[in-house]
Amino acid sequence: MIKIAPSILSADFAQLGQEVSAVEKAGADWIHVDVMDGHFVPNITLGSPIVNAIKPHTSLPLDVHLMIEEPERYIPDFVKAGANLITVHAEACTHLHRVIHMIKEHGVQAGVAINPATPAAAIQEVLGDIDLVLIMTVNPGFGGQAFIPRTVHKIRQVRQWLNEASRFDVHIEVDGGITSETAPLVVEAGADVLVAGSAVFGQKDREAAISAIRGSVSG
Ligand code: DX5
Ligand code: ZN
Repeated sequence: MIKIAPSILSADFAQLGQEVSAVEKAGADWIHVDVMDGHFVPNITLGSPIVNAIKPHTSLPLDVHLMIEEPERYIPDFVKAGANLITVHAEACTHLHRVIHMIKEHGVQAGVAINPATPAAAIQEVLGDIDLVLIMTVNPGFGGQAFIPRTVHKIRQVRQWLNEASRFDVHIEVDGGITSETAPLVVEAGADVLVAGSAVFGQKDREAAISAIRGSVSG
């Protein structure tokens, strides 16, 4: 079962509550929240007060993607604000294993993301500790960028490692440039959670947008 996680990065920030409830009604499975600090990535977006503000507007899980340095400093705040899953970047954590366990000790699910230039092997030693692997299919920082096809083999590699370890419960999420054209490529390789920013929030009819992506990968 494929999950669609619209990224609020492409939503109307002046109406975030309505935007989030609109995509829930339109059939979204998770809400993806992109946190950027202007250091790890060349853009600044939002912090835990925004997560806290949107929480009452949806019953969907809040999937928080931290594109920030020293993410361990902010994990308690995002948990308090209502995050259900927190993903940190392998490239941003000197002590990745410690950060993952810190997230889990706070009672939420833990994910690890890797950039397009980072090999899949960067997460191999922590696969037994996490709930989700996020394979970035663009360089993080902005919505609306073009999908990088070279990232697809890493999805296949991680799915193979998970299958070999009988970890059928671990999600493989992809993020960046996902549309009804690119979704079939990543799902065929083993992805099961598709983040879509501009392909959902950039469209007037969100229900049609979500159905188009779902339709491209089912049946
Ligand atoms: C990129 C963010 C993405 C972004 C995706 O740095 O992590 O979640 O919003 O946007 P689209 O789907 O437009 O590529
Ligand atoms: Zn993201």
